[in-house]
Amino acid sequence: MSIEIRSASKSYHGAAVLNNFSLSLPSTGTVCLFGPSGCGKTTILNCIAGLESLDSGRIIGTENLKISYLFQEDRLLPWNTALKNIEAVLPRKNSRALAAEWLRLVGLEAAADKYPCQLSGGMRRRVAIARALAYGGDLLLLDEPFQRLDAGSKDRMMELIEKKTEGKLKILVTHDKKAADHLSDIIYHFDGKMIKILDNINSERQHYT
Ligand SMILES: Nc1ncnc2c1ncn2[C@@H]1O[C@H](COP(=O)(O)OP(=O)(O)OP(=O)(O)O)[C@@H](O)[C@H]1O
Ligand SMILES: [Mg+2]
Repeated sequence: MSIEIRSASKSYHGAAVLNNFSLSLPSTGTVCLFGPSGCGKTTILNCIAGLESLDSGRIIGTENLKISYLFQEDRLLPWNTALKNIEAVLPRKNSRALAAEWLRLVGLEAAADKYPCQLSGGMRRRVAIARALAYGGDLLLLDEPFQRLDAGSKDRMMELIEKKTEGKLKILVTHDKKAADHLSDIIYHFDGKMIKILDNINSERQHYT
């Protein structure tokens, strides 16, 4: 599996967000998109996930892929407990026990029966991370995964993501330079066009920043 975005253009109400944008992604590893607020990072993820369509251009290689998407907002179901939010993405067999195990892995076993409105922002984020990982996609889209997490939780979540998604392709969007440096094989700076600032997959370790 490798994904290619070819000459993608997308506007909202006449304002261009993606303008003839192209990008080739490797089949595994973590590719980070770094860039200022409003430059179109979430739009790119939404187009890859098929939630938004391009005005022109193509995205090749996502057909038949199972995609885990950790949205920029947690998007937990408010009427479900933490446990049920995770159970919802699991096959029915053993779903309760598996969901409980995912909650344990993100340090929230005691919050299983709590509803999203009863959790702190960082706790909700960890439930959302657990749900995205539990779904087990071939491709993971991670939009600001560590927002609202304290330093200790962030380190544990980085470690968990690395461990549970080995060999899979991850597209990481973050403003967090430490997380980007720690997790990424390739880092692109996106600001209208893409500038590659780190490439550990294609040999030479380049740092232009
Ligand atoms: N559904 C939409 N309708 C109208 N405009 C939109 C929509 N989605 C995104 N935009 C606009 O597209 C631009 C890019 O938004 P996007 O959310 O992709 O940015 P981003 O790089 O993810 O920013 P941030 O780092 O703040 O999350 C912004 O100007 C935003 O207002
Ligand atoms: Mg965004």
